[in-house]
Amino acid sequence: MADQKEQRRRLELKPVERRTFLRYSLIGSVSAGLGGFALASLGFLWPRPGDELAGEVDLGDAMELYEEIEDERTPIRIPEGGISIVTWDPSDESAMTLYGQDHAIIDEAEGLGLMALNSQDCPHLGCGVPWCQSSQWFECPCHGSRYNRYGEWTGGPAPRGLDRYVSFVEDGRFVANLSEELTGPARTANVLEQSPEGPSCVDA
Ligand code: FES
Repeated sequence: MADQKEQRRRLELKPVERRTFLRYSLIGSVSAGLGGFALASLGFLWPRPGDELAGEVDLGDAMELYEEIEDERTPIRIPEGGISIVTWDPSDESAMTLYGQDHAIIDEAEGLGLMALNSQDCPHLGCGVPWCQSSQWFECPCHGSRYNRYGEWTGGPAPRGLDRYVSFVEDGRFVANLSEELTGPARTANVLEQSPEGPSCVDA
């Protein structure tokens, strides 16, 4: 089921991005054949986008993405872009003040919004930051930085929350602009306050 959703989502991407993805796959295959020794941690195993993946990328029907994330309580990850799509609540006044201008809003009154977090580059030293289903946080395996489900810093050596991309909803579609990366919120932000909901996936 998850595979089908992922496949469907890839088919929805704009043609120019799909061609770019094929290039990454080819480069990745060649690299894997030549290398195979230098990957030091899980964080660095994650695919990374090249310089060509840029501009506005249509990531799918905004409402369908929202419902899938909420139903499965898991961000939707777009490996080719290093993006994790999460939901947020624009009806929350503090959240709206901090995120309203640059993050996608589906319906402000109903509190439906989406964010495109950069989950492949931890603001500390650049490791990938996987999602931890049990805690419902992003947790960096390299040095233990943690971020709540909105990418806000909650602990560890990282200097701020996860960076993210400008995103918006257009004609019902969720679009992220990979050419416009936003610096993550300050450590003190935590406006969407979310406590861990279970055991952590990494040692503190
Ligand atoms: S790279 Fe993530 S905590 Fe150091």
